[in-house]
Amino acid sequence: MKTQVCIIGGGPSGLMLSQLLHLKGIDTIVLERQSREYVLGRIRAGVLEHGFAKLMREAQCGERMDREGEIHHGFYIAHDGRQDRVDLHKYSGGSSVVVYGQTELTRDLYEARDRMKGVVIHNAEDVQPHELTSAAPYVTYRQGDEIVRIDCDFIIGADGFHGVSRKSIPKTVLKEYEKVYPFGWLGVLSRTRPVSPELIYAKNERGFALCSLRSQVLSRYYIQVPLSDSVEDWSDEAFWAELKRRLPAEVAQRLETGPSIEKSIAPLRSFVAEPMRYGNLFLAGDAAHIVPPTGARGLNSAASDIYYLYHAMMDHYLRGDSSGLDNYSAKALARVWKAQRFSWWMTSLLHSFPDSLPYDQKLQQTELEYLFSSEKALGSLAENYVGLPF
Ligand code: APR
Ligand code: PHB
Repeated sequence: MKTQVCIIGGGPSGLMLSQLLHLKGIDTIVLERQSREYVLGRIRAGVLEHGFAKLMREAQCGERMDREGEIHHGFYIAHDGRQDRVDLHKYSGGSSVVVYGQTELTRDLYEARDRMKGVVIHNAEDVQPHELTSAAPYVTYRQGDEIVRIDCDFIIGADGFHGVSRKSIPKTVLKEYEKVYPFGWLGVLSRTRPVSPELIYAKNERGFALCSLRSQVLSRYYIQVPLSDSVEDWSDEAFWAELKRRLPAEVAQRLETGPSIEKSIAPLRSFVAEPMRYGNLFLAGDAAHIVPPTGARGLNSAASDIYYLYHAMMDHYLRGDSSGLDNYSAKALARVWKAQRFSWWMTSLLHSFPDSLPYDQKLQQTELEYLFSSEKALGSLAENYVGLPF
């Protein structure tokens, strides 16, 4: 087979890029290791920054998001017996975020690829990129007993944190920066009415908690748990009881509980791999960087990679200008690191750290007091949360 751009990974990053390039007449093939049912069974975060929502519309995939997604102009931080609202709209100069599940968004992208007869190959095993530094790179994969080869101009590594793409860059070239947090998030999805129309991030000495939602009948809640905990340790009853302990009393009182539809634990990690280009391989999204979910930056950090790659590919194919491809890694990393900084800051602000000193706790408290006493500090939080420009 032959294509212009071979994309490894059929998550939001790979599908979005494939869809955008297709609309500009640039041919792609997407190789996904899993089945479509598996990909669409994963429950992921649900806050989209303004820029990502725009990209969805540009990709002609924004219709359902605009119909069913909720625009949020603010969120709450509960701490020290108070609930303070962060007015995103006011402090970001009129911007907002869209609450829309990443699972739904991925479904919309798949449907758009189907509608346009895009080639997405599922259950592609042993995907391997080859000849990355030559002018004729190619990708092989196995389907049953058959090895298939795809010749292409460029390879996009959009295969997530555990993918093969990043691992194909020689260790002498790639530098990895990583910070693993000493806790995870236990998440529960339940068919209950959300406790609050806007998200509540709660800092509590028992640990962090988050009240989020997918719709007015579907709630998503999280609590910070030690890494040694497993899902089996947490019955639904135990989860609701602990969540209530960490929320302000009046919020806990009106919390509607019910059976969990999904329950999982995600460890918190910050990670960046540099550079994001090696020869004709370009990394995008989780393949190159991971953030802890506190600032809701995961998908949004991927969005700028996709945007830069999309424009760089257009410049290359439609105008014969390769400077965007040459600058991709530096440009993408500049924004990636800002998302890293913000996610780290919000994580540090709101969680209980097992080894923290009384001094650290005082600073955490002071940081919150400062935040809600300074319009400039709120402005900084708001502009990062709605997404820095790209
Ligand atoms: N070959 C082919 N596909 C692979 C391989 C491989 N060797 N390894 C992984 N994949 C697939 C995964 O099955 C997955 O569907 O690549 C896809 C990567 O998707 P994601 O992990 O969702 O990463 P990405 O598309 O970059 O999405 C950005 O935003 O909210 C965050 O972390 C969240 O994943 C989300 C991210
Ligand atoms: C979610 O709804 O899953 C969610 C929302 C906000 C976050 C993280 C996750 O910061």
